[in-house]
Amino acid sequence: MALPQSVRIYEVGPRDGLQNEATPISTQDKLRYIELLREAGLKEIEATSFVSPKAIPQLADADELMRALTATPSDGVVYPVLVPNERGMDRAIAAGANALAVFTAASDEFTQRNIGMTIDESLAAFAPVVTRAADLGWWRRAYVSTAFGCPFTGHVDIAKVVDVALRLDDLGVDEICIGDTIGVGVPGQVHAITAALVSAGLSLDNIAYHFHDTRGTALANVVAGLEDGIACFDASTGGTGGCPYAPGAAGNLATEDLVYLLDGLGIGHGVDLAKVIKAARFSAQALGKPLASKVGQAGGWDAATGQRILPA
Ligand code: COA
Ligand code: ZN
Repeated sequence: MALPQSVRIYEVGPRDGLQNEATPISTQDKLRYIELLREAGLKEIEATSFVSPKAIPQLADADELMRALTATPSDGVVYPVLVPNERGMDRAIAAGANALAVFTAASDEFTQRNIGMTIDESLAAFAPVVTRAADLGWWRRAYVSTAFGCPFTGHVDIAKVVDVALRLDDLGVDEICIGDTIGVGVPGQVHAITAALVSAGLSLDNIAYHFHDTRGTALANVVAGLEDGIACFDASTGGTGGCPYAPGAAGNLATEDLVYLLDGLGIGHGVDLAKVIKAARFSAQALGKPLASKVGQAGGWDAATGQRILPA
């Protein structure tokens, strides 16, 4: 099957990337990091979460960060924020947000530990939030985490993933993002999940994938998604992050690794590899750790000259 000619890269570094890091980074550094992401050409940057600061202290500055972002012209960049409940929605509105993501999972055990609710309870909590966002004309995304496996209960049935995705679709979201929260998935699972979602009535245009590279399978899974016709993939510059309530969730797919792959496949995305590596270096430095991603270390590769592509 022909691969999509272009895809959206949905950057989750400032949110998913930073929420699991031990070293707190200042609001000023987060703003500089987001500025570098914009300079790299990223147009969808998940900026922060309006969750309980007790649950995720790393993002306790969400109100201040978001107000600073929305005070400057967006130039077409969207900053979705995670919202778990009405309280979070009030804060997101006050801070000037105009796009959100709600988040549940395909495993009750995981949602219980992550947000203190069953899947059913989470859907009931999101319903008024998504309705308010729709009334305000916001872009709306919903995550189905642990779709490829749960850190607490293991195997997850595809039927459960489909059931949760359809119920989120019924709430009225624009995009459903299927997450391999602990990086256990392989390409065959991607094909099986995409096929099940599409045969249940979801459109390919409304499905995104969120892979973790915990076991080195993220890019293989992206290729499987591309073969299925999926045209939106999440990534985190530097490969930072993961969910603190998911043991072993380290290692989001690194944006620079994704960009390198897409460039090589000739698939458009509008993002500059050297500038992504620059942003990744900045966040690694702010976090006080080495840049661990493969392309972050090796650089890209210019086929015309044989030279490595790295930031100036
Ligand atoms: N923003 C700020 N504070 C919030 C809040 C929000 N959106 N929602 C709840 N709180 C506060 C409450 O006021 C309460 O504070 P208090 O202890 O000082 O009274 C505390 O958080 C607990 O609230 P409660 O309503 O009892 O909820 P809970 O303890 O069951 O927590 C969530 C539910 C969803 C708020 C919490 O689990 C959460 O924020 N989880 C986010 C997890 C996450 O982001 N994971 C990573 C993404 S995959
Ligand atoms: Zn992630």
